[in-house]
Amino acid sequence: MRAFVKIKPLYRFLKYLGRRIKKIDENSRAVSKDELIFLLKTFGKGKEIIELGCALGQTTRRIARNNSVIAIDPLIPDKDGLLLGMYIEDCYKIFLKNISNKKVIFYNMSSMEAFEIWDKKIKRKVDGIFIDAEHSYNAVKEDSKWIKYIKKGGIIAFHDVSYHNGVRNFVEEFIVPKHKLLGKVRSLWIFKKK
Ligand SMILES: C[S@@+](CC[C@H](N)C(=O)[O-])C[C@H]1O[C@@H](n2cnc3c(N)ncnc32)[C@H](O)[C@@H]1O
Repeated sequence: MRAFVKIKPLYRFLKYLGRRIKKIDENSRAVSKDELIFLLKTFGKGKEIIELGCALGQTTRRIARNNSVIAIDPLIPDKDGLLLGMYIEDCYKIFLKNISNKKVIFYNMSSMEAFEIWDKKIKRKVDGIFIDAEHSYNAVKEDSKWIKYIKKGGIIAFHDVSYHNGVRNFVEEFIVPKHKLLGKVRSLWIFKKK
């Protein structure tokens, strides 16, 4: 047992080194700096925000500096037990570090599983949503059911719109005609709910 306690930090360090060699940068942002500035400015302060697909919590942490966040992600590892090139337990550690001392409620489940709970039991409307989970047409269509729980005049933000045809097709078909486009920065499109 004592030997294991001694070896564990070394094991973790070697794993970390391996990730660096493979150029997996744990500090890299899924959302670019200019997208983030636009997102945070639009969400404002003192708001309640839902994030679908929070991954390691890099954006969650930044939104939660001035807001409370409901972060939803099943964090499912691939067949090799990895998520984003990391061991799942390391992902949880990074996520928990990112959200420590922040007002974050974590639903460790898919967006639709969380929606069923919210739709049956909670039903509260919130100020904004950041949709950044699975980037396919059908998945974003399902995720957009959450818009029902965004207040009128609230914020609806979609990430990776420009880079994924499925997301862009859905947003152009269903969101653009219904809500007011506030702006686009790179692949981030933000709307005000009408
Ligand atoms: C692009 S990453 C999110 C990045 C994160 N928003 C950020 O800014 O750091 C996509 C995430 O969506 C999650 N995801 C995939 N399918 C999902 C679903 N059905 N519901 C919620 N999250 C999902 C994945 O586990 C992954 O962590």
